[in-house]
Formats: sequence, structure tokens, C-alpha cells
Amino acid sequence: MTSVTESPTAVKFTDRINRIEPSATMAVVAEADKLRQQGIDVVDFGAGEPHFATPQHIKDAAIAAIQGNFTRYTAVGGTAELRDAIVHRHAVDFDSDYRREETIASTGGKHALFTAIQVLVDHGDEVILPVPYWVSFKDIVRFAGGNCVLLDSDESQGFRITAGMIERLITPRTKLIILNSPSNPSGAVMSAGDLTEVVRLAHERGVWVLSDECYVYLNYAGSPFSIGSLRDFRERMVIVGSLSKTYAMTGWRLGYALAPAAVVSAMSKLQSQSTSNPTSIVQKAAVAALKGPQQCVIEMRAEYIRLRDHVVNGLRAIPGLKCTLPQGAFYVYPNVSSFFGRGGANSASDLASKLLREFHVATVPGEGFGTRDHIRISYATSVAELDRGLERMRKFLASL
Ligand SMILES: Cc1ncc(COP(=O)(O)O)c(C=O)c1O
Repeated sequence: MTSVTESPTAVKFTDRINRIEPSATMAVVAEADKLRQQGIDVVDFGAGEPHFATPQHIKDAAIAAIQGNFTRYTAVGGTAELRDAIVHRHAVDFDSDYRREETIASTGGKHALFTAIQVLVDHGDEVILPVPYWVSFKDIVRFAGGNCVLLDSDESQGFRITAGMIERLITPRTKLIILNSPSNPSGAVMSAGDLTEVVRLAHERGVWVLSDECYVYLNYAGSPFSIGSLRDFRERMVIVGSLSKTYAMTGWRLGYALAPAAVVSAMSKLQSQSTSNPTSIVQKAAVAALKGPQQCVIEMRAEYIRLRDHVVNGLRAIPGLKCTLPQGAFYVYPNVSSFFGRGGANSASDLASKLLREFHVATVPGEGFGTRDHIRISYATSVAELDRGLERMRKFLASL
């Protein structure tokens, strides 16, 4: 036990907390906030969240829930009404046939991911993780004691991941393959064919697949595809979804998993000993989102495509920047390596810090996503704000 007089630096924290790092994206948000508090006008391309307001009918449902005193604990994994709404939405959109017992609602998609990984990954297990990866996957796996086996992808192929690439990394210790299509940060989208092949391979080898489908509706390459539609392979599959990006509800914190009932039951056990149920009021709002009109999703998607084209054209017009066309989510991932060695900037982190400190544009350096040559730009903002940021970036890069 630590005595009250002991200095905080002398406290020995657990191995598991020492294995992980704070989220790189959260660090950028904090840094940009600090500048703003000093009165500096920051163009924020760092935050990974929609710039839209939550649709009115969803807000109305939350207000009605408060007025109706729906303010008590609910079942740990969410109300039956919400779990039915989750499986209903998935069945309508992806032709799946999950049952209520095969879904759990959590406090955000990240929470569902965290819980699923704690349930599936044990000390020494290997987890195949395509690069670039969303920042939290690596740390959540490490927290569980697992080892990430990184799968490099090729930028010139649009960061494509195929079953063949994954197969080469499977060993007897492989427990899980993590997929994230559309991807944060690259915006890459796996084809339905590639996804099916990976799932088939995993099934054959007795390996679990965790598919983070938080951006599934923001697919600009074709119709959204969920591996949950591959009914024959469901026994080793976990799908994580979120209302954050689909319905512009990041602050509400509502995500879910779809998985075999035994996995859901284990996740529910862990959730019962940590957060308990997601906020009751938010659950009512989530039912309205999932069962109400989906026109808002279609409209936001159309606007993201317009913003993507605008920002990619603007970036490609900057000499020295290379930028693949993202096929989904709301990020671009330009390659900035041709600027290394100029103006004292030798890495994506150096460039992103100088860009923020000197020209007041917040971006996230690629190192947090496992690549060294890129920065991530979130284009979930207005055209006017994109133009302001692009102009500053143009001036900054020309100044190096
Ligand atoms: C790939 C990916 N998964 C999961 C999440 C978590 O989203 P939330 O916890 O808001 O549902 C995010 C958020 O940025 C994400 O980008």
C-alpha cells in the first residue's frame, strides 16, 4: 500500500497501465484547445467527429426521455427495445439475422471494442492489425496482454488489405484479426469480395475477426457492406458499430457489438463490473436514431463526398503533397515525406507540430496510426474552414 506522504512519482502503477499510451488524437485536441484558450484562431482538422448537429428527432427523443423520467438504471447491455432496434437496423441494411441476445449496447463504440478485446484476447495472443490503424486498437490489445502483429499495406494500392496478405501472418498463436473498413485514418474501403475472403480464411483457421464498422455508412465506393451479412461465418465474428459518426452523436456515447451470444454474455459480465448500462436517456435517443427516418444519414454522406472532393483537390494542388483518394469515413491521409529535411522538420510529427504552432492548423501525425510519412486531416467541417486551412498549409509548406 502507498503511504499518503509518498510522492506520486514513486507510485508503482500496474504493468497493464504502463503498457499503453494516451490517444494521439486526443493529444492533438488538447493542444489545439490550449492555443484557442490563448485567443489563437486555430483551424481544426484534428478532431475525428462530424460537424453536423445531431438530427432533431433524435434530440427530441432524449428530451422526452428526461421528461418521462426514463432516468434509472436499465439492463446492463441496454434495454430490450434498444437491442431490438440495433438488430432491426442491421437486418434491414445488411440482411443479417442477429437476435437480441447477440447484441450489447455500450458507452460508445470504443467501449464495445475495449470490452470485446478484453473478452477475446489473452496474454501472449497475437492480433493481426492492418497498418495504418486507428490509434486505440494497438493500446486496447496491449492492455489485454496481446501482441499486435502489424500488417503493412501499400499506399500505391490504396492501402488495400487482402486475405493473402493476412494468411502469411497467421501463426498458431493468432487469436484475432482486426478490420476497419472504411478505415480511420486512410479512408480505405475493403471490397465486399476481400472482406468475404478474409472472413472465410479466419473461419477456416479458427481465428476471430473483429470488424470495426463505425464508418460503415460512410462508404463512398459503393453500397455499405457489413461482414454480419455473411451468416455462415458468424460464429467467430464480432462487429462493432457506433452511432457517433452515422448520426452525428459523438458526445452522446452510444455504440454496440453484434457477436455470438456467449461473447455478448461475457462482455455484459465485464460491463456489469465497470460502467453498467449506457445512459438511459441516450438509449431512447438511440432507438429514435435506429428506427426513425434514415434520410439524415443519406444527406450527411452526400455532403461528406462533396467535402472530400474539395479537400483532395486542394491538397493535390499543393506542390510536393501526395494524396490518395479516400473511399470512405471523413479523413484524408496525405503523404508529406517530400518535405522531410526541410525547415528542421524530419518527421510527420515535426511537421504537424510546426503547422500547429506556427500556422495554427491542427492535424494528427501519422506515427500514431503506425505510418511515418503521413498526416491525417479530418474534413468534417465547412468548405470555408477547409479553404482557410488549405491556404495556411500551402503557405506553411512553401515556407519550409
Ligand atoms: C475506427 C474507429 N472506431 C471506433 C471509434 C470510437 O467511436 P465512439 O466511441 O465515439 O463510438 C472511432 C472514433 O473515432 C473510430 O475512428
